[in-house]
Amino acid sequence: TMMALQQASAFLVLFLAALLLPPQCAQDPAMVHYIYQRFQVLEQGLEKCTQATRAYIHDFQEFSKNLSVMLGRCQTSTSEYRSAVANLALRVERAQREIDYLEYLREADICLESEDKTLAEKLIQEAEEEKRIRTLLNASCDNMLMGIKSLKIVKKTMDTHGSWMKDAASSSQKVYFLIGSRNKTLWEFANMRAFMEDSTKPAPRKLILTHSWQGTGQVIHKGFLFFHNQGTLNEIIKYNLQKRTVEDRMLLPGGAGRALVYQHSPSTYIDLAVDEHGLWAIHAGPGISGHLVLTKIEPGTLGVEHSWDTPCRSQDAEAAFLLCGVLYVVYSSGGHGPHRVTCVYDPLGTIGEEDLPKLFFPRRPRSHSVIHYNPRDKQLYAWNDGNQIIYKLQTKRKQPLE
Ligand SMILES: *[C@@H]1O[C@H](CO)[C@@H](O)[C@H](O)[C@H]1NC(C)=O
Ligand SMILES: *[C@@H]1O[C@H](CO)[C@@H](O)[C@H](O)[C@H]1NC(C)=O
Ligand SMILES: *[C@@H]1O[C@H](CO)[C@@H](O)[C@H](O)[C@H]1NC(C)=O
Repeated sequence: TMMALQQASAFLVLFLAALLLPPQCAQDPAMVHYIYQRFQVLEQGLEKCTQATRAYIHDFQEFSKNLSVMLGRCQTSTSEYRSAVANLALRVERAQREIDYLEYLREADICLESEDKTLAEKLIQEAEEEKRIRTLLNASCDNMLMGIKSLKIVKKTMDTHGSWMKDAASSSQKVYFLIGSRNKTLWEFANMRAFMEDSTKPAPRKLILTHSWQGTGQVIHKGFLFFHNQGTLNEIIKYNLQKRTVEDRMLLPGGAGRALVYQHSPSTYIDLAVDEHGLWAIHAGPGISGHLVLTKIEPGTLGVEHSWDTPCRSQDAEAAFLLCGVLYVVYSSGGHGPHRVTCVYDPLGTIGEEDLPKLFFPRRPRSHSVIHYNPRDKQLYAWNDGNQIIYKLQTKRKQPLE
C-alpha cells in the first residue's frame, strides 16, 4: 500500500505539472518558482496524508487483530462456559440422584427398623398385654347395665357426705357406716336390719382407725378396709378390720391425688371400687382436661395390675362404679339432677356408648356423695343428701366378643 501511495502522488505531480504549465509561461522564472513552491506545499500535504493514512491503517490492523484475538478468546470462553455449564448440569443431576438415593435409603432404613423390629415388638407386646388383660378380667362375668330398677332409702341421717357398704367379697352380713369425708370412726352393724332400725340390740360396734380417711371412696374387700389416707397425696391403706391394724399400704401411681376425681364430689381425690374382677382405683388424670384414669389393683399384694386412660371426664361427674369390668360414670349438670350415666368405659372394648340405653337415676336433691356397686348382691350403695340408698339394677348379657 505504501508503494502504491507514493506512485499515486508522483503521478499526481506529473499530471498537475502538465495541467498548470501552459507553453507560453514556461520561460517565466518567477512563475516557475511559484509553481515549484505550490508543488512543495502540495507534496508536504500529500506526505502528511500518507502518514495519517498509514497510522490509520496501522491502527485498523491492530484493532482488527485485537478484535480477532478478542473474538477468538470470546469463542473459547463461550465453549468453555458451555462445557462448564453442561458439566455443572451433569453434576447437579448426579447430586440429585444421590440425594434421591440417600432419601430412599433413609426411608428404607426407617421402614426396616420400625416395621421389622420396633413395630413387630410393639405388636407382640400389645398382643401379650391384651391376652394378659383378658385373663385378668376373666371372671365369667358378662353383665352390662341396662337401667336402674328401683330406689330404696335405707336410712336417713343429717350428714351430707359419707359412705356405707357391705363387704364386697365375702359372705359377711355386716354393714359399715363411715360418716363424713374425713374421720377415723367407723361403725359396724351386725346386719342390714340393725343398720336400718338403728337398733341398740345388737348395738353397733365402734372402730377407731389408726388413720383418717379422705373422701368417700372407701371399700371393704375380704375383711379389709381400703381407704385413701388423709393428709397424703396418694397413699392407700389396707386395714385389717378383724385385727384392727394396718395390713399394708401403697402409693397409687399415675399422678393420683392431685385433683378431685369428680367435680361434684368435693372431697374425694381417690375413689376405690370392687366388682366381679376385684379391686379398682379411679382418679383424675393430669392436665386440665381431667380425664379419669382407671387402675386395677391386686388386693393381696397391692400391686398395680394395669392402668387405663379413659375418655370419661371429671368435669360434671359426681360418682362412678364398676360392674363386670366396665366403668360407669354418673354425671349431673351443675351438680343437680338429672343424674345420668353418660360415659362408659370398657377396657376390653366389648361394649360402647352406643350399646347403652339412657341410664337415668331417680331424681335426688343433691349430687351423690358416693355410688358403689356390690358384686355380691349386685346392687348399688349410694349416699345422697344424708340418705343411705340402695339402687336395684337391671342388667343383660354383654354381646360376645368377635
Ligand atoms: C489493542 O490491544 C492492545 C492491548 O491488548 C491495546 O493497548 C490497544 O490500544 C488496542 N488497540 C485498539 C485499536 O483497540
Ligand atoms: C375364663 O375363665 C373360665 C373359667 O373361670 C375358663 O374356662 C376360660 O377358659 C377363661 N377364659 C380365658 C380367655 O382365660
Ligand atoms: C367423726 O365421726 C364421729 C361419729 O362417727 C363424730 O362424732 C365426730 O365428731 C367425727 N369427727 C370429726 C372430726 O368430724
